[in-house]
Amino acid sequence: MTSSQVPNSTRTPSPDLAEQEALDVIDPLRHLRKPDDDGDIVPSQPPSILNDTTCLTFPTYPVQAGEHDRVTISLRVDASPGCGGIAWPAGQAGRFLPSVLSDYLVLRGSSWLKNRQVLELGSGTGLVGLVAGKLGADVHITDQKQLLDIMNKNVEINDLQSRVTVCELNWGDKLPDVPRPSIVLAADCVYFEPAFPLLVQTLCSLGDSKDVEILFCYKKRRKADKRFFAMLKKHFTWKEVMDDPNRDVYSREAISLLTLSRKL
Ligand SMILES: C[S@@+](CC[C@H](N)C(=O)[O-])C[C@H]1O[C@@H](n2cnc3c(N)ncnc32)[C@H](O)[C@@H]1O
Repeated sequence: MTSSQVPNSTRTPSPDLAEQEALDVIDPLRHLRKPDDDGDIVPSQPPSILNDTTCLTFPTYPVQAGEHDRVTISLRVDASPGCGGIAWPAGQAGRFLPSVLSDYLVLRGSSWLKNRQVLELGSGTGLVGLVAGKLGADVHITDQKQLLDIMNKNVEINDLQSRVTVCELNWGDKLPDVPRPSIVLAADCVYFEPAFPLLVQTLCSLGDSKDVEILFCYKKRRKADKRFFAMLKKHFTWKEVMDDPNRDVYSREAISLLTLSRKL
């Protein structure tokens, strides 16, 4: 049998063909793109975010050596389970809400977080809770079911299984059966109007004592956000965190870091 008679399935591709086939697997549309021509057949696409892993170090701003803890987190990001699977950009400077809150946790440091019970709402990738875990807190990171796999993966790749536990928590539902947190964290949870009353309800359930500190990182995007704060106002007062050295930078991008206190 000559090589041209060998069935396709059993033929060993030449090195050149093998290389071309490998490139086709990576980018099946590549033959339709002709970067040197003035008209690609397919428009250029932003890169997909599918199971990418990124490495983040906090604080993201320069600090003098030894002044603060430094925390490095490996983060698996994946847009397929929903908006929470990526770290949300929150401004033109590319600042991320979870990194505003993470920077602040690092600034407060392990002396504040060590052995504290922390619960994070709408954790998405789990980034903020992972930072709290690295600083020695006992953390529950929570979100909806479709995010739990990526959160578990992120706990695992950071080797934080002894400190950080993943739980399903849909706002408005009964709280998971976990120790009462003394710190509650939330970054970028105000964006979907039907969820506003549910989020307020969960904040009320978690913040029902004077001893609970709630750190709430928020970016003003739409007029509708006012309705969230109108609902929140019935149960909470809030003030901006003033001791954050980055405040001037992120407040220019309409980002605020707030502490909420329950009206008891
Ligand atoms: C904009 S993302 C922010 C994720 C993460 N905190 C961050 O800053 O990167 C909002 C998160 O809230 C979660 N979420 C939205 N509605 C929710 C609900 N009803 N109950 C629980 N989590 C919810 C989403 O799954 C998502 O992870």
